[in-house]
Amino acid sequence: MNFEFQNPTRIIFGAGTITRLGEVVSEYGRKALIVTGGGSVKRSGVFDNVVASLKAAGIEYAECSDVEPNPRITSVSRGADIVRAEGCDVIVVLGGGSVMDASKVISAAALYDGNPWDMILHGQEEVYVPTEALPVITVPTLAATGSEVNCGAVITNEETTVKSFIQIPLLYPKVAVMDPELTVSVPKDQTAYGVCDLITHVTESYLNGVDNTPVQDRLAEGVIHTAMEWGPKAIADGNDVEARAQVMWAASVALIGWAQVGTDAPYPVHMMEHTVSAYHDITHAAGLSIINPAWMRFAVKSNTAKYVQFAERLFGLQAKSEGDLDCALEGINRFEEFLRSIDCPTRFSELGITDELFETYAKDTLKIVSDGKGNLPGRPFLSVDDMIEIFRAAL
Ligand code: NZQ
Ligand code: ZN
Repeated sequence: MNFEFQNPTRIIFGAGTITRLGEVVSEYGRKALIVTGGGSVKRSGVFDNVVASLKAAGIEYAECSDVEPNPRITSVSRGADIVRAEGCDVIVVLGGGSVMDASKVISAAALYDGNPWDMILHGQEEVYVPTEALPVITVPTLAATGSEVNCGAVITNEETTVKSFIQIPLLYPKVAVMDPELTVSVPKDQTAYGVCDLITHVTESYLNGVDNTPVQDRLAEGVIHTAMEWGPKAIADGNDVEARAQVMWAASVALIGWAQVGTDAPYPVHMMEHTVSAYHDITHAAGLSIINPAWMRFAVKSNTAKYVQFAERLFGLQAKSEGDLDCALEGINRFEEFLRSIDCPTRFSELGITDELFETYAKDTLKIVSDGKGNLPGRPFLSVDDMIEIFRAAL
């Protein structure tokens, strides 16, 4: 293992912590851009509470609403324009991963004269790497992506049908105010998708990483165990604040970086899913729950011992040997059964997606990340044909 790690985001966690928002924001600016999605925070009353907290701390605000799920680069430009027009000096984001991701890119785009798409990795010759950004304070209202505590952002360009990312330390939020009570209004399906997304964030590093990362393995397994125990409770009773809190924390821990550090793991399932999302505008984790088990069945032979460990430690199976393929495959079956038990789709046909564009998804995925020889990094590396085989298995 060889790594350098720093995550500077300050976390304020717990039921009721939202009341501290004004005081926290006042440490970073005088006029906030409040970024929101399609209206859930207005319907739930969160927006009004936040405005009251900001006002009490003497913070003015402007608003950028209607950031869409799978946020578009046009929303980023719109947000940056509002920052400039209104003279905002801090960004407060209320929402799920989509709104948080858009806000992070807005924070840099507001200080950049060019097109914000230049910052998103999409196969361009020269990627623009921003060097300054406004402070961002995240207030997650949905437990899923971990975006509240990491420096990544995923943005879609509808014109070119590309969904891709930026991930640079500059974009770490300054503070994450994480109040699980804000998530009680999340509907059952989005709650389940969040559980699937957070689990996939650690299966990717667990199964694609280098050998001998026992601490990271146990962290990943702890996240998955917690999600499988508390996720169904949060889905069954949305008002169970204890379950909401455990799932919210699991989502943050899943992608704060602790389980990934030192693993050098690429994220092939995410890369493939983002391309599918770009074409069909599907919910991110719906795509993951379809692709991940199919990818696991493809990849199992190249890293069987790790899949056996997954089967034994997560599902209590007993392997006959370290390389017991049957046990490894049974672990994948059990994992897929869990996804089905929380009503996540596991086949493209459930979303009405056919095999028509499978080759296009594979080729487009390689335009974002490739080893330079036509393969998608992962364990194993995937050629276009390999990706098509995985997509077909998930049809
Ligand atoms: O838009 P509003 O009205 O707020 O409604 C949202 C949206 O319709 C709703 N919602 C959020 N909080 C709610 C609520 N509904 C009721 N009550 C609440 N408290 O949920 C819907 C989905 O929201 P969205 O933000 O799209 O979901 P999620 O958090 O799953 O984010 C998905 C996006 O994040 C990207 C995905 O690709 C996708 O674009 N990702 C970001 C990552 C990161 N930055 O680290 C990593 C992930 O792997 C992922 O790629
Ligand atoms: Zn994800």
